[in-house]
Amino acid sequence: MKQYDISIIKGDGIGPEIVDEAIKVLDAVSYECNFTLNYKEYLMGGIAYDVTGNPLPQETITGVLNSDACLFGAIGGAKWDQLPRELRPESGLLRFRTEMGVFANLRPAVIYDELVNASTLKAEVIEGVDLMVVRELIGGIYFGEPRANDGQKAYNTMVYTKDEIVRIAKVAFDLAMKRDKRVCSVDKANVLEVSQLWRDTVEEIAVDYPEVELSHMYVDNAAMQLVRNPKQFDVILTGNIFGDILSDTASMVVGSIGLLPSASTGEKTAIYEPIHGSAPDIAGQGIANPIATMESAAMMLRYSLGEDKAADLIEKSIKKALKDGYRTKDLAAYDAKHVVTTAEMGEIVANYIHKL
Ligand code: IPM
Ligand code: MG
Repeated sequence: MKQYDISIIKGDGIGPEIVDEAIKVLDAVSYECNFTLNYKEYLMGGIAYDVTGNPLPQETITGVLNSDACLFGAIGGAKWDQLPRELRPESGLLRFRTEMGVFANLRPAVIYDELVNASTLKAEVIEGVDLMVVRELIGGIYFGEPRANDGQKAYNTMVYTKDEIVRIAKVAFDLAMKRDKRVCSVDKANVLEVSQLWRDTVEEIAVDYPEVELSHMYVDNAAMQLVRNPKQFDVILTGNIFGDILSDTASMVVGSIGLLPSASTGEKTAIYEPIHGSAPDIAGQGIANPIATMESAAMMLRYSLGEDKAADLIEKSIKKALKDGYRTKDLAAYDAKHVVTTAEMGEIVANYIHKL
């Protein structure tokens, strides 16, 4: 039987609850599809700081690098906001991404037919939306030097090297080849030199993908177009901070941030996590929506383990649960027949996996 080593980072807030339900679903699907997942848990974020004094312990770095893939919950909370910047959970997360070399962040935004009404946008605008934000994750203004704040003057630097742009552009074009063969590269080339290099480099890579239609958009226009007519997009290719902003917008276009997964991949390993945060205000109440984490687990099976059938089975079972009217509290207002807890949602999806 095939065996895979999966590192698990539950993190803070609702992290532990939602990851537990994703594991329930992974256990069901590995049983049905005949493979074994060996889980090992590591600390990161606020909890890691509380236990070890470091939001990203070395043991976590080594453990995740040695695993086949990492399933991640969420980190952070007001409790740690007063710490010096380098000890905060968010700094741990950024350092984690760099240490893991995960330069490509894939954030799909797909509409569930059952939840068209959960979006603040009109049904006809969003029905059929299926787009993928490809966000560069370990460069750009998040990491550029110099950076400083002396109380009178503060600055950050948006830097991209040609190599960094080439490797993320290839990810976007390769993905487009498996999708609708359209890439929209988003930048601010009318103002920023770094964006001009970005645009020129993406043009060069496009030559190797004659079947893919490439377009360019300034980020301000892209933000507007995403809300005006999201169906025009297939793959959106962009840098770190623009991708951070646009992926939040895209998530609301499809209705709920509680449903969307993400994958962060590179050359060494990959991290799979819901795009939502740790929601400390609802932690421990059993009302968090575990679907984004389950979807992240499905992405992990597909992209890191090549277990496509198992990934399909998770996705189908989630759809079935939604179709049958099961909703966690966040979606209770949208055609719910049964409002269920976080743990019940895990059981329901796991049961469908055994039945479908
Ligand atoms: C995200 C988050 C992070 C980011 C924060 C928590 C550092 O917003 O994953 O989108 O900005 O990358
Ligand atoms: Mg963000």
